Amino acid sequence: MTSITSYDSEFFLIGGGKRLKGRVRISGSKNATLPIMMASLLTEERCLLSNVPNLLDVKTARELLEFMGADAKVEDGRVLIETRNLRGFVAPDHIVRKMRASILVAGPLLARFGKAVVGMPGGCSIGARLIDQHLKVFERGGANISIKNGYIHMEVEKVKPVEYTFDVITVTGTENALMFLSRCPKRSILRNVALEPEVMDLVEVLKKMGVEIEVEGRTMIIKGGEELRGFEHKVIPDRIEAGTLAVAGFITGGDVVLEGVCLEHIGGQLEKLKEAGAVVEILGLDRIRVRGDGRIEPLEVETREYPGFPTDMQAQFMVMCCVAHGVSQITENIFENRFQHVNELQRMGAVIKLKGKTATIYGQEKLSGAEVFSTDLRASASLVLAGLIAEGETIVRDIYHLDRGYERLEEKLNNLGAWIERVAHARNTG
Ligand code: EPU
Repeated sequence: MTSITSYDSEFFLIGGGKRLKGRVRISGSKNATLPIMMASLLTEERCLLSNVPNLLDVKTARELLEFMGADAKVEDGRVLIETRNLRGFVAPDHIVRKMRASILVAGPLLARFGKAVVGMPGGCSIGARLIDQHLKVFERGGANISIKNGYIHMEVEKVKPVEYTFDVITVTGTENALMFLSRCPKRSILRNVALEPEVMDLVEVLKKMGVEIEVEGRTMIIKGGEELRGFEHKVIPDRIEAGTLAVAGFITGGDVVLEGVCLEHIGGQLEKLKEAGAVVEILGLDRIRVRGDGRIEPLEVETREYPGFPTDMQAQFMVMCCVAHGVSQITENIFENRFQHVNELQRMGAVIKLKGKTATIYGQEKLSGAEVFSTDLRASASLVLAGLIAEGETIVRDIYHLDRGYERLEEKLNNLGAWIERVAHARNTG
């Protein structure tokens, strides 16, 4: 048993070496839910979302909307939001610090009320995560922007149509721009946009609200409506949760069926899994079976914007490479500092060399249980995966990162035969 010291927050205790087997249902997508919740700020009418995951980030988004005076009810995977009586336009620092996606209130608030004040999101553990592209679109649309006391103050009298080519492809930048332009009746053109399924889910919602949006390659043409309607919408499945559970099934030499997936969204990941030796069977429109026989082939992976390999799956695939038969390479092209799991994986016996944005991973026969620390959401998922295949017990600390973006991950894995205990307080076992 690993010797541990005393910490306050919850942690996972994982007993490695269990083969996963069974069925698991994929939840709604976190990164689709958040912008769609913010889109409710664009209308006085009621907005109803279903297939909403029960996550910390969704709770934070609700807290933010309520802070501004919105009415938000959450029940059984459904969120009902009404922003008729909004009385504030400020996303306070203490909420922005918990969730960077809070910046997504800026576009809709400017579009409907001409005013937004948002705590300045600082850098975060995975990189600088600039928002210059969001602000450039707002400025092109006539907004005045100033920074005072750590807050971004934005004001616009009437949003003007915009023609803008993004300098970098940005997911929340594209989403914010779309919402900002959605009440401007003149035609706007955005080029070099992000086409992630989560962005396209927001596009669907905006169309339901009365916005005309045409998508041609990486160009979007937007014609807004002066008054937008409420909407009912079922959020798309979480492709990152699906990928994480597929990797879990494969690396444990297991046999798992994922239900409620969107095949189109996870096609690229499945191809890579097959390359590593997984047997992937399509069982129906939204069901796949993933099996492994214990042997894992090395991989070359480069993260790219969708439809490329998602950066949000990089850490999980790295775990797979740690026990592959040979040398793998993973290149992270989206974020400049998204390798913090490497140190922790090394504590579990992984052999990884980092050079610039590329990690070379020398596959080992096994990993061994250790006490490791989560540094961000996807890094924490990778440590859980590593714990599943490690010899002995693993302690994964700071799992609040994981709770931001995975719904009951340990419960889902335990139902498949894993052995993970969520421990509320440190137990001194050493
Ligand atoms: N960037 C800029 N300027 C900007 C915006 C972005 O330089 O104005 C740079 C970033 O610094 C980064 C790159 O562009 O290097 C891509 O960042 P992007 O804006 O696309 O990321 P994001 O919108 O902040 C979303 C997801 C992330 C996911 C990325 C990439 C949400 C709420 N978050 O972040 O999800 O990794 O897109 O796909 O949608 C996660 O779920 O764990 C997560 C981090």
